[in-house]
Amino acid sequence: MLADSSASLTTIKESDYLYYDDSIGPNWCKVDGDSAPTYDWLCAKVAIPFMPQPLRLVPSPRRSHIYGSGIIGLKILGIETSCDETAAGVVEDGRLMNSNVISSQVELHSVYGGVVPEVASRQHVRDIVPVVEKAVADCGMALDEVDVVAVTHGPGLGGSLITGLNTAKAISYSLGVPLMGVNHLEGHIYASWLTEHNPGEDPGFPLLCLIASGGHTDLLLMEGHGTYKLLGRTRDDAAGEAFDKAARILGLGFPGGPEIQRVAEGADGEERLPRAWMRDTLDFSFSGLKTALLHLAQAKGVYPPGSKDLGEQELARLVREMAAAFQESVVDVISAKLVDAAKRYHAKGLVLGGGVTANTRLRQEIIKRSPLPVIIPPPILCTDNGAMIAACAYYQYQRGQQYGLELDIDPGLSLG
Ligand code: KG4
Ligand code: ZN
Repeated sequence: MLADSSASLTTIKESDYLYYDDSIGPNWCKVDGDSAPTYDWLCAKVAIPFMPQPLRLVPSPRRSHIYGSGIIGLKILGIETSCDETAAGVVEDGRLMNSNVISSQVELHSVYGGVVPEVASRQHVRDIVPVVEKAVADCGMALDEVDVVAVTHGPGLGGSLITGLNTAKAISYSLGVPLMGVNHLEGHIYASWLTEHNPGEDPGFPLLCLIASGGHTDLLLMEGHGTYKLLGRTRDDAAGEAFDKAARILGLGFPGGPEIQRVAEGADGEERLPRAWMRDTLDFSFSGLKTALLHLAQAKGVYPPGSKDLGEQELARLVREMAAAFQESVVDVISAKLVDAAKRYHAKGLVLGGGVTANTRLRQEIIKRSPLPVIIPPPILCTDNGAMIAACAYYQYQRGQQYGLELDIDPGLSLG
């Protein structure tokens, strides 16, 4: 026997049936005993003018766990389109990465030596549907098995963010599942929850977080899930931006970070560039370093390209030494400030995220200098991805954070 229902979603039990219809959104009805409602019965029972077709029945065992007290197997689809990666991933219970699909636009932008916003947003539109479909298919699911949809809503490029946000809204609305808006920077922190560690438990809060990416170099104290204090940030260029500009000076490709790392291997350490210590603060500055590199490259005839006839081997040697000097300067300042901040703020461990933390020398040096445990995601999770957005959303969801379809992009969103 089916009973009429008007109670709230929170009372849904295993034996109840959820269904969704396009005009009223998620709805449900109670089932007495084990008799299942038929499609026809529901169509008749739910008297909506202009009944939309088809009315999709969602048997509760698949979703009921969302509303129960013990949340098990909660599958969050995370979508990320803040810059030049169209990415989606499915994460279960905040830590188990079931899929992670990334479509990079690097080749497209490398012709221009940097990300062209208009080109990026158009490419997101082309890629988003296949990327989401693959993320869901890769874990053997159907789209309607997703429990929550999470999306980066800032910071980032407006035209890029909007594609991810509108896709997430459409999925949330059509499936009748909650929508979560995630701060991209917080997402980078939660990539560490996708490792074999659970930083929140081992070593535990407070954690000292470094986010070093193309747009940010932030030091944050994470006192608990969703609680951050900004301790330091760059006053000019972000670390990733500095890597990209340095690579351009040295005639290397885009993105610059991996290129600088690659060519710097095997350097003899013949060159040295200055460090901007910004004494008595936890702030950074990288634009002076970039100018110092430019002056050195001009003096050696490496920049502008072809200004001196150096020969292939000599040019390669100079580029290698200068790239290494640049990298060492960035690595030295970041590691020193990070370890100092962790000590000052009595952190229990360090968490690293953002594209620059994929840098091998930076990882090595921080691990070497830190007396505390250091948690760094594998390189593929340091750069932009959808799984980290899903991981972050899980903890927001557990805290009861809610977002509606009025959620908008916020290109200048900050953290802490
Ligand atoms: O986090 P991310 O993928 O995108 C943003 O949110 O900005 O970071 C991209 C930045 C680029 O500037 C890139 O040059 C840098 O991360 N990057 C690296 C490395 N891999 C990526 N920088 C240094 N070493 C790397 N191995
Ligand atoms: Zn990023």
